Amino acid sequence: MGKFDFSKLENRTNTMSAKWDKREEIFNNKDILPLWVADSDWQTAPAVKKSLLKRAEAGIFGYSFADQSIEKAVVNWLKKRFDLIINKDWLIFDTGVVPAINFTLKAICEDNDAVIIQPPVYRPFFSAVKNNNCQLIENELINKNGHYKMDLNNLEEQIKAAKAKGRNVRAMIFCSPHNPVGRVWEESELLELLRLLKKEDIYLLSDEIHADLVYPGAEHHPVLKLLLEREEFKSYRKKVISYLAASKTFNIAGLHTSYTIIESKKLREAYNQAKDGFGTGNSPFGLIALKTAYNEGEEWLEEQLKYLKENYDFLQEFLEAEIPKLKLIKAEGTYLVWLDCSQLGFETDAELIKFMNQKAEVGLNPGRWFGDAGSMYMRLNLACPRQRLKQGLNRIKKAAADL
Ligand SMILES: Cc1ncc(COP(=O)(O)O)c(C=O)c1O
Repeated sequence: MGKFDFSKLENRTNTMSAKWDKREEIFNNKDILPLWVADSDWQTAPAVKKSLLKRAEAGIFGYSFADQSIEKAVVNWLKKRFDLIINKDWLIFDTGVVPAINFTLKAICEDNDAVIIQPPVYRPFFSAVKNNNCQLIENELINKNGHYKMDLNNLEEQIKAAKAKGRNVRAMIFCSPHNPVGRVWEESELLELLRLLKKEDIYLLSDEIHADLVYPGAEHHPVLKLLLEREEFKSYRKKVISYLAASKTFNIAGLHTSYTIIESKKLREAYNQAKDGFGTGNSPFGLIALKTAYNEGEEWLEEQLKYLKENYDFLQEFLEAEIPKLKLIKAEGTYLVWLDCSQLGFETDAELIKFMNQKAEVGLNPGRWFGDAGSMYMRLNLACPRQRLKQGLNRIKKAAADL
């Protein structure tokens, strides 16, 4: 074991945990082993916990804001981890990436504008488009023998068709790394996408919340970095918004803090105006946790990444040996894995879900939650002690034995 312990079986019940304490409500089975919502079953980095305890000691929890020390922590982290150099003035602090995406659409869209997403993808993207009275353009990813790719030819055709009907194709909400299929997009794929969006004059909303969680062999490229490095994108940068957080990386999602990067002053102003009146101030705990995670959490993150990779390898070997009909889609990043369940022999998604929840008693996210393209898939969260992961896999194995 390294310096930090990711194998401890923490008891999360009766902690108001969405993952653990809503089992009956969500899965209709209080005994399921929850391997769904995207948080981790281990404690955050010790330094983060210590800073929160210290902040709690102060006993005063009034309205707070992100001061210069937090801006500096974010600027340094992006430089150190991704070689992305930003100006601190481009930063806006938010209570989450999902609200931030909603505010962005509110700032830039008019009713009936079209907004592109690439399913199967994180469900709140669909909702953000609908919340803002916009029309969805779904450019489904292509699954080629278990490797997902963007279908940019189809995207270009769909943009043309929408424009021909007089529709304003305003924005794309992009997931990088991609939840749920685990792709960490390559530089060449990103550049191809950026060139198309620039040509069509479409805003890019780049959700990079999983940026830190990448397996060996893959590298996360922030779109903003690619843009800043290339003269050809100088004028397009004003249409790009990036969203990041320490929430997944350091298991502090419940502290509701994220940050949005907008280089264009005009767009920043429009964005802040869209937020006005929604009560979007940050909690002092979220801000302190973010700052400490970025200033002191790197060693912990490196160890966590190793543990996640070992969990991933364990899962892969287990499935191949014990449940070969359950096919793992190779993940390059995120602790969420995408399972192709089409060979288990179910006719409908409802049967598959019933099998997982009631027979195997594991709580996974149904693939359909991520759009129709997720039919006959399930998403599993492997950010838990290996023993717990093994328990869940054994449950599936036992239940699948008589299929
Ligand atoms: C791609 C993606 N974006 C956003 C979120 C949630 O972000 P937040 O809690 O900051 O709103 C998640 C959580 O799973 C996610 O996977």
